[in-house]
Amino acid sequence: MKHILLTGGAGFIGSNYLNHILNERDDYFIVNLDKLTYAGNLENLKGIENNKNYRFVKGDICNRELVDYIFQKYSIKYVINFAAESHVDRSILGSEIFYQTNVIGTNVLLETARRYNVEKFLQVSTDEVYGSLGAEGLFTENTPLSPNSPYSSSKAAADMMVNAFYHTYGMPVVTTRCSNNYGPLQFPEKLIPLMTINAMHDKKLPVYGDGLNVRDWIYVIDHNKAINLVFEKGRTGEVYNIGASREMKNIDIVKLLLKAVGKDESLIEYVKDRPGHDRRYAIDSSKIQTELGWKPEFEFEQAIENTINWYKQNRNWWERIISGEYVKYYNNLYMNR
Ligand code: NAD
Ligand code: DAU
Repeated sequence: MKHILLTGGAGFIGSNYLNHILNERDDYFIVNLDKLTYAGNLENLKGIENNKNYRFVKGDICNRELVDYIFQKYSIKYVINFAAESHVDRSILGSEIFYQTNVIGTNVLLETARRYNVEKFLQVSTDEVYGSLGAEGLFTENTPLSPNSPYSSSKAAADMMVNAFYHTYGMPVVTTRCSNNYGPLQFPEKLIPLMTINAMHDKKLPVYGDGLNVRDWIYVIDHNKAINLVFEKGRTGEVYNIGASREMKNIDIVKLLLKAVGKDESLIEYVKDRPGHDRRYAIDSSKIQTELGWKPEFEFEQAIENTINWYKQNRNWWERIISGEYVKYYNNLYMNR
C-alpha cells in the first residue's frame, strides 16, 4: 500500500484526480490536506468521501505542526502537491497569499518530507513558469524560467526549491509542468467556465486586450493520467512538460463557447488587458511521450463538448459558487475594466 499525502484535493484538478484514482487503484491510501479556500469544495468529492482508502483533513500546508502530525499519523511516504493559489488575476489584485501558500507551503511540505524520508515528492507545476512565447516555438523542459505574474513567479520559486532539495539533500523529487486545463469542476473564475456561465446568463463576456493571446488546452483527465504516470515512473530530479498541442486564441474559444450555448457574438466585450498578460503558451511534451509512453487521449472537440454539457447539467454546483463571495470578486475585477 502506498501512503500518499495529496494536497489541494478539493480544487479543480486535485478533485478530478481523486475521483478517478480512488476508483482505479486499491493500493493507494490517500490523505487529502486542503485548506478549503474559496476554490476548495468538498462537494467535488462526494463520490469518494467514504472510500476506505481516503481521509480528508481540513488545514493549511503552511501549518508545520499539522503537516508533521499527518506524516506521523498516516505513515506518509509519498507527496503529490496540488495545493496552490492558482488564479493569475487574483495574484495581480494581491500577491501575498500566493507567496505564502505556493512558496512557504511548498517549503513546509519539502522539509517535512525530508524528515520522514519520503520515497517520492511530486510537485504539480505549470507552463507559466517559462514566461511568454512569441509567434513561434514551444516550451521545452530546458526553456529558462522567466515568470511574469505574481502567480507564476511563486510557482517558479517553488520549482526551484524542489530542484534545490534534490541537488542538496538527494530528495526523490519530480516536477510536472502542464498547460491550461479545462473540464468539469473548474472554478468559474477561469476563462472556459467563466465565459460559459456568463453566456448562459446573457451576461457580457469580458475578453482581455485584443483576444489574440494563445493558450494550449488540455482536458483535465489527460493531465491527471500524465501526473500519475510521472508519479509511478518519472525519473528522480526530472521535469516533465504536459500538453495536448491544442493552441487556441482566446477569442476563438469564446466564439466556440457562445455557439455551443446558443448565444450571439454580440455578448462579447473587449475590456482592458490583464497587466503583464503573457502572449502565447505552447508546450513540447515529447519527453513524457517518448520516455514514459504518455499521450493525450481526448480530442479537443469532444472534450470541450463534454465540459460545456457538464456546466449545463450541473447548475446547482456553480450557482452556489457565483452567489456570495464570488460576486464581490467579480465586481472588483471587472467593474473598472
Ligand atoms: P484550484 O484553485 O482549483 O484548487 C486549489 C486547491 O488548493 C483548493 O482546493 C484550495 O482550497 C487548496 N489550497 C489553497 N491554498 C491552500 C493551502 N494553503 N493549504 C492547503 N490547501 C490549499 O487549482 P487547480 O486549477 O486545481 O490547480 C491545482 C494545481 O495545478 C496548482 O498547483 C496549479 O498551479 C497547477 N496547475 C493548474 C493548471 C490549470 O490550468 N488550472 C495548469 C497547470 C498547473
Ligand atoms: O498555463 C497553465 C495555467 O493556466 C495555470 O497555471 C493557471 O493556474 C491557470 O489559471 C491558467 O492560467 P491562465 O491565466 O492562462 O488562465 P485563465 O483562465 O485565467 O485565462 C486564460 C486566457 O483567457 C488568458 O489569456 C486570459 C484570458 N481571459 C481570462 C479571463 C478570466 C480573458 O480574456 N478574460 C477573462 O475574463
